[in-house]
Amino acid sequence: MRVDTHPKGFFSIAESVSEQLLLGGMNVGEHKIRKVCIVGAGNMGHQIALSAALAGFEVKCTDVNEEVLKKAEQFVITYLPERVAKGKLTQAQVDAARANLSFTNDLSEAACDADLVIEAIIERLEIKRKLFAELDSLCLPHTILATNSSYIVSSKIADVTERPEKVCNLHFFNPALVMKLVEVVKGPHTSEETAQTLMNFCVSLGKTPVLLKQEIYGFLVNRMLAAIKNESIYLLDMGIAGHEEIDTAVTLALGHPMGPFRLMDLTGIDLTYIVGLERFQETGDPIYRPSPTIAEKFVKKEWGRKTGKGFYDYPNG
Ligand code: CAA
Repeated sequence: MRVDTHPKGFFSIAESVSEQLLLGGMNVGEHKIRKVCIVGAGNMGHQIALSAALAGFEVKCTDVNEEVLKKAEQFVITYLPERVAKGKLTQAQVDAARANLSFTNDLSEAACDADLVIEAIIERLEIKRKLFAELDSLCLPHTILATNSSYIVSSKIADVTERPEKVCNLHFFNPALVMKLVEVVKGPHTSEETAQTLMNFCVSLGKTPVLLKQEIYGFLVNRMLAAIKNESIYLLDMGIAGHEEIDTAVTLALGHPMGPFRLMDLTGIDLTYIVGLERFQETGDPIYRPSPTIAEKFVKKEWGRKTGKGFYDYPNG
């Protein structure tokens, strides 16, 4: 099934993908996607894992850091009953999701029988390349290896594997359980079939995928977001307005659900700093150099919600 050529449009595609799931998975060539492995149980990873478990996939979420794994599991334990109490999920859906989702610190156990692996680890190219080489040797030949990286295009990774046609960017947004958009970014090495399988997979999660036919730094959304973020930080550093005033302006005048400073607190100021610095080192373009405000917050570990303080305070985490 091809999303872009389906004669009856999006809803019939969604129905058709759900039908495939009821029949026990989604096709990857002659194989089906039933088992999904998420590598990296941080902010993005555990919410992607839970989204897939809620959609009926068998999911193993893995991380090298025990503390991160425990935190991820604790999130699931707290979040799911809250959804039942709120009337958003039934107890049966929660029980099924819990049964579908497991956590392990053993990469080999998590990846060895997966049909799809989604990597959501730290944004460091060398670490990702090492991981993909390892995944290539651990995984079944048909397994698709996707990266949730926000900035690192898969052509910088695919060459460490023997299956470059099965390597692709699959970019979710934060919070992944809520945000509907997913960017599927096709590299020159990615096969049509891999990209279409990932598009279908996103639909089966209840998401709306957009296909980027070519790689570009920052994809669609982060390019637009960067422009707003940079301008907001410039206005703050110039003393034109405070972060609260700028957030108020963006929410009330542009209709964004949250302003750029509250959003940086959500996505992590550490990430804004690291990604900006790496891009500056790579290109030499001063537009990417983290501003003194961001650098100071990075050094002070004021990284936003995850550390309890960013531009705003989060005393309760
Ligand atoms: N995790 C899971 N669910 C969450 C959540 C979180 N951290 N925060 C909020 N939610 C859920 C709530 O449970 C609630 O769900 P229901 O309505 O189904 O009960 C829903 O989201 C709304 O929550 P609230 O009423 O508490 O708050 P809100 O209406 O202000 O929404 C928000 C919160 C969804 C985060 C909203 O403010 C929003 O959409 N903000 C913009 C987020 C955004 O721009 N994300 C993209 C970031 S860029 C990025 O992700 C780039 C990247 O490369 C990673």
